Amino acid sequence: MGKDHILVGLEIGTSKICVVVGESKPDGSIKILGVGHAPSRGVRKGEIVDFDTAQKCVHEALVDAEEKSDVMIQSVYVGITGSHISSFNNRGAVNVPEDQEEITDMDCENVRGAAKEVSIPSQNAFIHSILQHYYVDGQDGVLNPIGMIGGKLEADFHIIHGIGNRIKNTIRCVREIPLEVEDVVFNPLAAAQVVLNQNQKNLGALVIDIGGGTTDFLVYVDGAVKQTGVLAVGGDHITNDISMGLRIPMARAEKLKVEEGSVILGNSLPGETILLKDDHGFAGKEIERETLNTIIHMRMRETLELLRRTLLQRENYLDYLGAGVFITGGTSQLKGIDNLAQDIFEMPVHRTHAQTMSGLTSAFENPQFSTAIGLIKYAQAIQLDRPSGWLSRIKRKIPFFG
Ligand SMILES: Nc1ncnc2c1ncn2[C@@H]1O[C@H](COP(=O)(O)OP(=O)(O)O)[C@@H](O)[C@H]1O
Ligand SMILES: [Mg+2]
Repeated sequence: MGKDHILVGLEIGTSKICVVVGESKPDGSIKILGVGHAPSRGVRKGEIVDFDTAQKCVHEALVDAEEKSDVMIQSVYVGITGSHISSFNNRGAVNVPEDQEEITDMDCENVRGAAKEVSIPSQNAFIHSILQHYYVDGQDGVLNPIGMIGGKLEADFHIIHGIGNRIKNTIRCVREIPLEVEDVVFNPLAAAQVVLNQNQKNLGALVIDIGGGTTDFLVYVDGAVKQTGVLAVGGDHITNDISMGLRIPMARAEKLKVEEGSVILGNSLPGETILLKDDHGFAGKEIERETLNTIIHMRMRETLELLRRTLLQRENYLDYLGAGVFITGGTSQLKGIDNLAQDIFEMPVHRTHAQTMSGLTSAFENPQFSTAIGLIKYAQAIQLDRPSGWLSRIKRKIPFFG
């Protein structure tokens, strides 16, 4: 099997580290060969805070993935998140040289450069500039301007940037293992590639990836990425609230949330309780089911309402989401989360995971793996877009971090 056909995604999450090994098939499909994972330590709210510890965990997940896939992993696509990441939309414009007959790929590169001629904080670096739409001499809806005749080329981009040193730290953590980093990809961009199909992107969709320490989101309208971001709140905040509110150890709170928890209120019988057995210095306790669910409900409602407010801050794209909301990530498994999200966003909400893959079914059915699987899909898309050769290698160098 040629190395070129093997693609590896690495997500350094707050809860778990996940390495997915996939094989890109000539027909554009992907076969999942193996998934390695390890509990994550040294990561807070999606960012590495203890370098050595996080590196050990990445190594553990990597070894697991190599064993399960029977592939020697040499390079990876790394997902990144963290509340330092921000984004905006901007239009770039260039004049096509008069002696030039038609618009070339160089003009398209130049218009991308022009869209990035905006000031971002000095410590920040560009992570992505995602094309939305081209315009040739004011004509909109141009899908591919290369080869067209025109004097002025414009394009709208969604631009994502973040603190350079934080991103460099993630890259260093991986490179020291040692593993080559092919590219860094903002997490929800990866997840969206496998939870949405083209039709849903065209209709308009909001993807919410609720993990342990962050809630990452992305909005597609009319087939283009319009909004992205990160909230520094996730499922671990629910666990923390349960632990504090019910005065039980964190590990018990986590188990209680996963096994018994629900965001739906008013469904338990009056006085219905859950018995926590005694264990290792914990005296045991009776918990009222409605109290547990109220704690979960309050935190989840607050998080989703915060997300809604954040999305509405700049422009109202919520009215253009014909396909609705798609929730993934570990916390999407919380019972009733779709009903609550439906109330808040007032549109259909789907709990989802990676779609249309072959290979390990159990892997793509797990919403905790959506981002890592999405990284492979993302990688495949850029590799298909850039045939191998000198220029493609130059382009593939990580911007600012190569
Ligand atoms: N069945 C479940 N019900 C509710 N929450 C869950 C369930 N399984 C996992 N979680 C929560 O999902 C979060 C981890 O999700 P994940 O997507 O792996 O996070 P990250 O990418 O940040 O590492 C944790 O907060 C965990 O408690
Ligand atoms: Mg995640």
